Amino acid sequence: MVVSAHPIASQAGMYILQQGGNAVDAAIAVQLALAVVYPRAGNLGGGGFMIYRSATGELNTLDYREKAPAAASKDMYLDKDGNPTTMSLSGHLASGVPGTVDGLIASHQKYGKLNFDLLIEPAIRLASRGFEITSDEASRFNSNKSVFLKFNSPETAFIRADDWKQGDKLVQKDLAWTLKQIQERGRAGFYEGPVAEKIVEEMKQGGGIITHEDLQAYHSRWRVPVVSKYKEYKIISMPPPSSGGIALAQMLKMVEPYPIRSWGQRDLRTIHLMTEIERRVYADRSQYLGDIDFYPVPQDSLLDPKYIKYRLQDFNPDSASKSTSIYAGNFKIALEHFETTHLSIIDQDGNAVSVTTTLNGNFGSKVVVDHAGFFLNNEMDDFSVKPGVPNMFGLIGAAANAIEPSKRMLSSMTPTIVEKNGKLFMVLGSPGGSTIITSVFQVILNVIEWDMSMSDAVAASRFHHQWLPDEIMAEASAFDPNLKKQLEMMGHRFREIKSIGLVDAVLVRSDHRLEGAADPRGDDHAQRWEKQN
Ligand code: DON
Repeated sequence: MVVSAHPIASQAGMYILQQGGNAVDAAIAVQLALAVVYPRAGNLGGGGFMIYRSATGELNTLDYREKAPAAASKDMYLDKDGNPTTMSLSGHLASGVPGTVDGLIASHQKYGKLNFDLLIEPAIRLASRGFEITSDEASRFNSNKSVFLKFNSPETAFIRADDWKQGDKLVQKDLAWTLKQIQERGRAGFYEGPVAEKIVEEMKQGGGIITHEDLQAYHSRWRVPVVSKYKEYKIISMPPPSSGGIALAQMLKMVEPYPIRSWGQRDLRTIHLMTEIERRVYADRSQYLGDIDFYPVPQDSLLDPKYIKYRLQDFNPDSASKSTSIYAGNFKIALEHFETTHLSIIDQDGNAVSVTTTLNGNFGSKVVVDHAGFFLNNEMDDFSVKPGVPNMFGLIGAAANAIEPSKRMLSSMTPTIVEKNGKLFMVLGSPGGSTIITSVFQVILNVIEWDMSMSDAVAASRFHHQWLPDEIMAEASAFDPNLKKQLEMMGHRFREIKSIGLVDAVLVRSDHRLEGAADPRGDDHAQRWEKQN
């Protein structure tokens, strides 16, 4: 079963499974295909995280998150008066050193079964021959045209004189060339040689700071997963530099003692409790979470049962607590689009892979490396550019997530695998910036506590609280007017938001069949393969 953000990418993964590839092979092929057919988030110029669980229960995680260039510095996005600028959001200075290609090669070296040549083949074909774009993609290209032109030559594949329409063919010759360099030379085909030359040239010409040394020094890292228990389930998720695994574990541990199953999914007590938990966990995130290679993240303390109990000590079942108002106020959270992307795969032998990968914003920094055909990320915005100043997701940070040379910026991406009584149970994850963690939290509870099918759990409406701003963000259908009124009377404030998250997941049902669920909020697609005997 392969579930991803684009039908063509899911098919590429399925093709690899049919050739005898395993879940890791398929995940590599899907990510490479997404770099071609889903350029707003699929990428060569970004980064991501992978959670792996072998059929025999071996667990591992790969961190291929971008890193700050060596010339980066704490105040690089502040003007001379110390005020934040928009340079972390778009343009050449917004990019971290890309990690995706190193991550794909590293995961292949450790777990791949088929030749890498074969895994990259579908992407090369899609880039050189072209594919028909959807109406959503056409409108994305059209609405970004002026910003694409600001940073790129009009020759770039994503820019055309007339408007794009559904069914138009997108051919990416430059990207096909880059993919072939990677096919021929592996890691060196991207971090050294002519592609690296073009990246550094692009940086020089646009005022960016990524150098040949930064590219050569980039390496992904295998990390020990955050493993926590929730009832008879084991939750396996991403450690720092993602905040996702720790935050998800904190939320589940805090909710565990309460009888939410009998209260019900849309019960006043359940929503109030989950909101209060989320408020506290995101406050911890902003203070304590950052790249573990640079900052001593107090993981054990944050997950200590005594701390979990203490953290909810001031929970009042009858009224909302107030998030401190110090930083609240004058910012908007840009959440209308989902630009990260998640894929969930279980292969014929029962190996499972959960990958979330991103450029950060819509088409990242909007800079396409000239003649190499791929977008660079704007991941530097995930750092805290100044204590207390919110990033594009409204998240606030401190020293733990301050900019330092070669440091990885804090993430919310939460690729997750769940075991039930020692057996593979669920693979899931989501885009959505700060709302990723709460989306994963809710989908897990929907299945475990309220017995929903995977598809219903993914489709169910979602809500989100992130401490600051002090409000519940909710999809329009999340709460009936009466429940909303009762929550308001307890002191909660609301903001309606078009949609939250784009969860792609697989569930191993009790009859051992796999149920893939592609989020109906997007063009996402679940592709099942059953071996014929
Ligand atoms: O790593 C993170 O948390 C962000 N860069 C993820 C960005 C994202 O999900 C964009 N989609 N809405």
